[in-house]
Amino acid sequence: MYGRITVVAIEVVFRNLEPSDLSDLDWSGGAEHLTAIAEVLPLMVADEADYLVSELPNGRLVAAGGADLRPVPGVGVLWQLSVHPLLRGLGIGTGLIVALEERLRARGLAEARLSVEHDNPDAARLYRRLGYRDCGSAVESWPVAGGRRYVTVTTVLRKDL
Ligand SMILES: CC(C)(COP(=O)(O)OP(=O)(O)OC[C@H]1O[C@@H](n2cnc3c(N)ncnc32)[C@H](O)[C@@H]1OP(=O)(O)O)[C@@H](O)C(=O)NCCC(=O)NCCS
Repeated sequence: MYGRITVVAIEVVFRNLEPSDLSDLDWSGGAEHLTAIAEVLPLMVADEADYLVSELPNGRLVAAGGADLRPVPGVGVLWQLSVHPLLRGLGIGTGLIVALEERLRARGLAEARLSVEHDNPDAARLYRRLGYRDCGSAVESWPVAGGRRYVTVTTVLRKDL
């Protein structure tokens, strides 16, 4: 041990995604993931999605995720939830989900859903702790490098808001 400091509590602000944020979200995934985030911006303008980023006092972004309002009428589907790898397990993901749920409630929606890959038990444990309950499974896919699609099996969870 060569030193130790006490780090003060740092305020994390959850706010709407803006176009200029994309350059500070490269930690969240590859080029395909950044493209997917960019595609959310017109959905926000059309009021078909909420998408939040978590900003530190120094302006850096450390989490992102949204609620897609399109797939199921009356339901907000949380997706693309991601916290900076260096800052996981500190409560930021919980804060992001709570903030998204508040957005859905403010819209008058009564249910939130999300899905988690079958091999991601850590995230599934978090969602169950926040009140989400299994309601089925699905096959999902998304674009990855090389113009290919990654296909996976997910567990779908739901929660009354
Ligand atoms: C899942 C994720 C968004 C949660 O955010 P977070 O800020 O780490 O979560 P919190 O600190 O609020 O809650 C901690 C819980 O998150 C879960 N978790 C999932 N992945 C984790 C990780 N890599 N490190 C720490 N906790 C993780 C654990 O269940 C942990 O609870 P525990 O104390 O019982 O182990 C974040 O860890 C992440 O970005 N993971 C990688 C991408 C991912 O899996 N996204 C979800 C796809 S469905």
